[in-house]
Amino acid sequence: MASQSKDRAQPAGDEVVLGKPRRYLVNVDSTSTNQLFTDCLVIGAGVAGLRAAIEAAESLKVIVVCKGQVEDSNTWNAQGGIASVLEAEDTFESHVADTLKTGCGICDQEVVELVIRRGPELVKQLLSWGAEFDRKDGRLDVTREGGHSRARIAHAHGDETGRIIAQTLIKQARQLPNIRIIEGFYAIDLLTDDDNRCVGLIGCDGRSGPQIIWSPNTILASGGAGRLYRETTNPEVATGDGIALAYRAGAVLRDLEFVQFHPTTLYIAGASRALITETLRGEGALLLDNKGRRFMKDYHESAELAPRDIVSRAILSQMRKTEATHVYLDVRHFDKEFFAKRFPLINELINSFDIDITNDLIPVRPSAHYMVGGVKTDTSARTSIDNLYACGEVASTGLHGANRLGSNSLLEGLVFGKIAGQAVLECTEAGASQTKRPVIEYQIPHSDRTRLDTEDVRNSLRALMWRNVGITRIDTPLTEAQEIIRFWQRYVMDKVFDSPEDWECQNMLTVSLLIAQAAQQRCESRGTHFRRDFPDIDDKNFKEHIEIPS
Ligand code: FUM
Repeated sequence: MASQSKDRAQPAGDEVVLGKPRRYLVNVDSTSTNQLFTDCLVIGAGVAGLRAAIEAAESLKVIVVCKGQVEDSNTWNAQGGIASVLEAEDTFESHVADTLKTGCGICDQEVVELVIRRGPELVKQLLSWGAEFDRKDGRLDVTREGGHSRARIAHAHGDETGRIIAQTLIKQARQLPNIRIIEGFYAIDLLTDDDNRCVGLIGCDGRSGPQIIWSPNTILASGGAGRLYRETTNPEVATGDGIALAYRAGAVLRDLEFVQFHPTTLYIAGASRALITETLRGEGALLLDNKGRRFMKDYHESAELAPRDIVSRAILSQMRKTEATHVYLDVRHFDKEFFAKRFPLINELINSFDIDITNDLIPVRPSAHYMVGGVKTDTSARTSIDNLYACGEVASTGLHGANRLGSNSLLEGLVFGKIAGQAVLECTEAGASQTKRPVIEYQIPHSDRTRLDTEDVRNSLRALMWRNVGITRIDTPLTEAQEIIRFWQRYVMDKVFDSPEDWECQNMLTVSLLIAQAAQQRCESRGTHFRRDFPDIDDKNFKEHIEIPS
């Protein structure tokens, strides 16, 4: 049995400032910690995690852990729908071309073809598992979103597509005796052996304290990182933990500078931000500024249906020009009954603020929505660490390039969830999974440094990321952001905490710093990444990925 404690150098707090993270956030003693055992461990219960679990459960025992309730995911909140070639009039070539165009030259074409061609079969499988998608004249009703050259977004219960997909997968997973879902389980760190093979994780379930789950195969499907930003459509759980724990374990990350901002989030001061789906614009909603002027035509020929990075920047620019805090969506021309049926979630939300769509405008502004970059994977969902797979928003598969085409994410989660589950099955059958359990001991030296209020750090960090590493970026504020984050890291990363909120703060600092560094490194504008000091695309120097470590 191998022991990690003898030869691994124990970094002191200061080394964090030099860019080297601590290997584990907590002390680890694998001989005295509570233990669970499984054949396949899935971290995260969104579309990708659940689809992966269902696949792997064909012949393996699977544990799915999620840090909140199983409903707390970006999948559950998704409104618009799932993009796929479902109509005879549509073609794979057209969906591929739209995805490549939106990705601005750095999509992986093999992955784009793979996801788009496998999509329809998996969407139809969802229908066969009971997902009720909306229909019109007996056919699936499909709508448009920005960047799509035709209507191909299938939706369910109007704007409740995410909930319907999540509920279908949860029901399917719960029927399978091989799957155990553990809610309220915080994944602190991946465990790796001396050869850097993943052997499971150390986490905490809030009731019994630290726990190790040993697993010869681990699938990371922990979702996104929208909560790094003050303004976001994402639920509270989206704090980038998966990226941070993969980074500490040594996995290669990619494209972290590409953070997608959604153009239209309900903006009512004091209320939490809520997504107002792009399909509303697909159905004809207009964007007006505070003078009541439709402005999107000034910015792009496709007006309200331009790709979302362009719409987000246009809104920001119009807000600056008109010295306003927001713009408006105008749906006054919609039939009230159609609106209530097609957008029940939004209807309920705006009614709760006494907005009458026949008379009133809906105040909106952009906010952080989707992490395009993440843990680098190959076409089998394998990461650079043996026995560790990644899928869904936490992964960087190569589908999105520098920008994600709307509603391609649920599709990617379904396809790569299945691929990850299959890869684990194949690896197990071939006897290539990691089955030895090493002794892991890791002690963090005590630090006397002042303790900061991590809630305050989290809030300040989110404001800093919004201000300095947001929709438009520029060199000096990016440098300043890194300096401030490093300062906080000095007082936060040297501690050993015992609560999810504090671990989240540590992860948020780690991922924010990596995003700011990558954003500074990419001295051009491409897709979601816009540098005011380098406003053009620079194919000569930057038609490539930024990987960490490089
Ligand atoms: O606007 C939306 O409904 C978002 C869709 C997506 O992020 O894919």
